[in-house]
Amino acid sequence: MSPLRVTRTLPEDATDAALRADVLNGLTATPKTLPPKWFYDARGSELFEEITELPEYYPTRAEREILLARSGEIAAASGARTLVELGSGSSEKTRLLIDALTGLEVYVPVDVSESALTQAGQVLIEERPWLTVHALIADFTGRMELPETPGPRLLAFLGGTIGNLLPAERARFLASIRRLLAPGDTLLLGTDLVKDEEVLVRAYDDAAGVTAEFNKNVLAVVDRELDADFNPDSFDHVALWDADNEWIEMRLRSRVAQTVKVPALDLAVDFAAGEELRTEVSAKFRRAGVTAELAATGLELTNWWTDSQGRFALSLSMAR
Ligand SMILES: C[S@@+](CC[C@H](N)C(=O)[O-])C[C@H]1O[C@@H](n2cnc3c(N)ncnc32)[C@H](O)[C@@H]1O
Repeated sequence: MSPLRVTRTLPEDATDAALRADVLNGLTATPKTLPPKWFYDARGSELFEEITELPEYYPTRAEREILLARSGEIAAASGARTLVELGSGSSEKTRLLIDALTGLEVYVPVDVSESALTQAGQVLIEERPWLTVHALIADFTGRMELPETPGPRLLAFLGGTIGNLLPAERARFLASIRRLLAPGDTLLLGTDLVKDEEVLVRAYDDAAGVTAEFNKNVLAVVDRELDADFNPDSFDHVALWDADNEWIEMRLRSRVAQTVKVPALDLAVDFAAGEELRTEVSAKFRRAGVTAELAATGLELTNWWTDSQGRFALSLSMAR
């Protein structure tokens, strides 16, 4: 068994600087926003895993159903010796893929959550001693430097996480990952699909309140890292469907008029009663749109699989 390798591609102070810049820009913008990557400290990653088990949160089960049925086909089409996974989290569903890829030598999980990466990586090398796991602590929206590993490469981006990027960010992101692929390498992309509004909203506003706690966790991160005085109890969790943009938005609505101090930024932020802070968009997709966005970056969609209820899609595309 080779030991788990963990590489931080950004120095600690770069993460700190990125959080400061995002909080300063986001809380002084109109409307106020915070990027979703800051949900995922150790507690946020744990809460996300709880979300994946909720009865209302269908995407994880739907994507697992597709992987159970199709991992063999994906493995045969990609012939990958290296699997790179962006936003890998617990790598739970990825095990299906890893076990189907008969020629696989190296798994490179990439995530901002160090706790999720090290926990998942440790379990993987214990269970599969033949596999080299080289975990990267990195922001997939930034410039990623992947380790030198044998090709062909399969790049997986599961969970519908691509929907958290706004359309312009998504185009930049797809162009940047295209540069990580050589001709013949493949991309496996998980996309949640447009469906009934009620089903979508319930997936982001569960009865047990776990998604609400996850949403408010971003305030706890800003409090801890930047010494701010957000009181999460003075905000309500909001999930709504934007039919024009075809995305779910998660917001935090201030229950009262209040001023939040962020001493590390020398900032005082006024919230009116009822004012909302956007914390996440989760875009939902259609086949034609995914095919066109991939084609625009030089990736040809070769396979499109959905779960039996047509809720979620996995697509495989090839770099030419
Ligand atoms: C919605 S979860 C999906 C996790 C897993 N892939 C799944 O399908 O269950 C998003 C994952 O992406 C990670 N993440 C979010 N934004 C990121 C970013 N900008 N760079 C790297 N990882 C990020 C989070 O830490 C989390 O593990």
